[in-house]
Order: sequence, then C-alpha cells, then structure tokens
Amino acid sequence: MAAVIYEKKGHIAIITLNRPEALNALNADIHRELNETMVDFRDNDDLWVAILTGTGDRAFSAGADIKGFQPGTGEAPQRRSEPPVRADTIWKPVIAAIHGYCLGGGLELALTCDVRIAADNAQLGQPEVNIGFMAGGGGTQRLPRFIPRAVAAEILLTGNRINAEEALRWGLVSRVVPRDQLMSTAMEIAETICQRGPLGIRATKEAIIRGYDMTLPDGLYLEAEKVAYVRTTDDFMEGARAFAQKRTPDYKGK
Ligand code: COA
Repeated sequence: MAAVIYEKKGHIAIITLNRPEALNALNADIHRELNETMVDFRDNDDLWVAILTGTGDRAFSAGADIKGFQPGTGEAPQRRSEPPVRADTIWKPVIAAIHGYCLGGGLELALTCDVRIAADNAQLGQPEVNIGFMAGGGGTQRLPRFIPRAVAAEILLTGNRINAEEALRWGLVSRVVPRDQLMSTAMEIAETICQRGPLGIRATKEAIIRGYDMTLPDGLYLEAEKVAYVRTTDDFMEGARAFAQKRTPDYKGK
C-alpha cells in the first residue's frame, strides 16, 4: 500500500498521506514517498497547484513516528547538499487541507504550505515536549514567524493543542469549514489559482517566500526582478488581450 497517494486532476495534484492506522504518523516510507511526489509535482509542467491532506477521518498527521525513535549521537547535523523537496522550496502553490490531528511534524509539514484551511474537527499542536523531545521539523522557526510569538511559544512550550477556531483566530489557517466540505473547498481554492496566470502565480510565491527573510529594499528589488520577468511572458500579454476582448484568458504557462 502506498504511504502517499498521488492523484492528478487537470492541473491540480492531490497528495494524501496514507497511514491511517497510525494517524498518518510520518515514518521513513512517508518521508521518502512524499519527497518523490514533491519532485514529480515540481517538475511536471502540467501540474500547477497541489493539495496536501491526510487519509481517514482522524488525522492530517499525528507527527513523527514515535515508535521508530532511536537515541541520537549528539552530533550536529551536516548542512544537507540536497535538502528534501518541501512545499516551500517549490514555486507552485501548495494548499494544506487539515482535519483531525495535525501535530508535531504534521503541523510542521502544513507550515511549509502556502494556504492552510482547516476542518472544524482540526486539532493543531507541537506536542513533542510532552514526550521529552522538541519540535524539529522547522516548528521552532516557522511558527513564531507566522503567528504572534507569545502564542507560538505557548504552543511549543506547553505541548497543548489548539482547535480550528483558535487556529483561525491566530491566522494559522485562513478558513475553517465543516469536515465534509474540506476537500471541495481546497479544490475550489486550487481551481481559482489555476484560472490565474501560472507564471505570475509562481513568481508571486517565490517573492513571498524569498522576500520574507530580506530587508524591505532587498524584497522590493526581488519583486521588481520578478515583475520584469513576468512582463516578458506570453501569459502576460494573453491576460491583457483577454481583458480587452472581454473573454476568459487561455494561459499556457509560457
Ligand atoms: N507515532 C507513531 N504512532 C502513532 C503516533 C505517532 N506520532 N500517533 C498515533 N500513533 C498510533 C498510536 O500508537 C495508535 O496505534 P495502535 O493502534 O497500534 O496503538 C494509533 O496511532 C491511534 O492512536 P491512539 O493514540 O490510540 O489514538 P488516541 O485518539 O487515543 O490519541 C493522539 C490520539 C494524537 C492524541 C495520540 O495518538 C498522540 O498523542 N500521538 C502522538 C502525537 C505526538 O506526540 N506527535 C509528535 C511526535 S514527535
């Protein structure tokens, strides 16, 4: 059985973590297959947007596979020459469709996505400290950058979970919907993004992510570089032509 289900619907990829018996806990198989899937999504010109979710009714993902934990050696990690292909290293948008438990590495995975939406049954948290560990998939760095620091610190230091409404209040997710509308809402957002010019979308995502760590002047220069590039594309002229001719644009990603 695949640890990650990979479906393609038109320009949209649906990537589903598939280990429901362990609440989609992230073991080596899921990590490997997710990486392979993200590489295919990145390199496939026909795919423009991805949705990441978890199978079953109970969890997006309950985080790292605790049962596979081994003692560490204490050695500092080498900087990887080939980091895993994460959603925030690909310039195509990725939407996290979160339901049930979204904990530890599961939340950290969702934090690499661009848009996060939650079902009303979602429970989010970084419970690693509950088991004598700590967030290690970027949680200590991304969470305090994405939501108020005191809220992030409380989540990371208490190990307590927050529910979907609290996540919405802190801007950790952009919408909360009934569980049975989660995937249709994610598809709706993905389809909306697919109707836009894909090269403008990708340049926007790259500018958001790379610009985040820059000074404002450097970020504005990056934006100007991206704008200069998008203006050279066929899609840019197609968008303007379609507007003038009062028709739907036919973007080719060129
Ligand atoms: N790693 C490995 N297995 C996990 C897991 C994880 N992170 N989270 C859940 N599972 C397994 C459970 O061991 C159980 O397996 P079993 O049926 O073989 O006993 C199954 O998934 C169902 O989980 P269970 O604990 O029985 O469900 P619950 O409703 O009582 O509790 C949670 C749900 C999410 C609160 C609880 O499973 C939990 O705390 N998980 C760990 C979350 C965590 O600390 N994540 C960060 C890891 S660093």
